[in-house]
Amino acid sequence: MLLSDSSWPEIQAYLSHSRAIVIPIGSTEQHGPVGIIGTDAATAGAIALALGDRTGVLVAPTLALSVERFNLGFPGTIALRASTLMAVVIDCLESLAAQGFETIYFLNRHGGNIAPVGAATQDFYFDWSSGRRTGRCQCCRFRNWWEYPEVDRLRQQWWGAHEGLHATPSEISIVLAEQPTSSRLFNSASAPLARQAPTPIPPGFARDYGGDNHFEARVHQQAFPDGRVGSHSMLATAQQGAPADRKRRLRGRRRPPGADRRLSSGREETLR
Ligand code: NI
Repeated sequence: MLLSDSSWPEIQAYLSHSRAIVIPIGSTEQHGPVGIIGTDAATAGAIALALGDRTGVLVAPTLALSVERFNLGFPGTIALRASTLMAVVIDCLESLAAQGFETIYFLNRHGGNIAPVGAATQDFYFDWSSGRRTGRCQCCRFRNWWEYPEVDRLRQQWWGAHEGLHATPSEISIVLAEQPTSSRLFNSASAPLARQAPTPIPPGFARDYGGDNHFEARVHQQAFPDGRVGSHSMLATAQQGAPADRKRRLRGRRRPPGADRRLSSGREETLR
């Protein structure tokens, strides 16, 4: 059930039997030469919608603007300050609390959201913990979709070291399944940039820059000039990105036109 497609009487009826809502949260930032700028928002929204279909939980509009200033060197990226995102999240929580929502589940696809959303929920709890506010405090949960054990197992099984950290084949696969027209990028003028192996991730990179704790945009762009961070985006397929019940229908459309299977030599067997 999508909040944006519902009327207020429908939401009122929903609240009579459930106080839970899922908020997908992504980003608006470059995703390499063959990934759309809305990749994170699209994947978080699609997974949240599938969750809503399966469980009946209400799904809020996707929060698509985020903390991605380290990608401002690439055209199309729109960034919020961390303090801005915190204010947006707190206002969302206040709005939902005023209407009786008690369980808020943030479904995330962007490392830069982790710290500010976590800090925002901590600030939101403060009034209850300090005694300034009474009544039932909302319960917020925050999960990164790529860290669910089954998802992470498939990422490692299908792409291994080629999965990387940004413009990953897993996220681009989901976009290809959800938005088939995005496969046009695999034949675009920029596609050859993605046919080359990505710049290797330096040792210790995930430790030092986890949660998108990158420095200034110019330095980040110099380190990863085509926008991929260790990810071989060209290995993405719609079949791998589709929910299990749609995979059969997509079989035979595993690879977008123009993608070169030879680039994935050594990975051919695991991709089948
Ligand atoms: Ni992403």
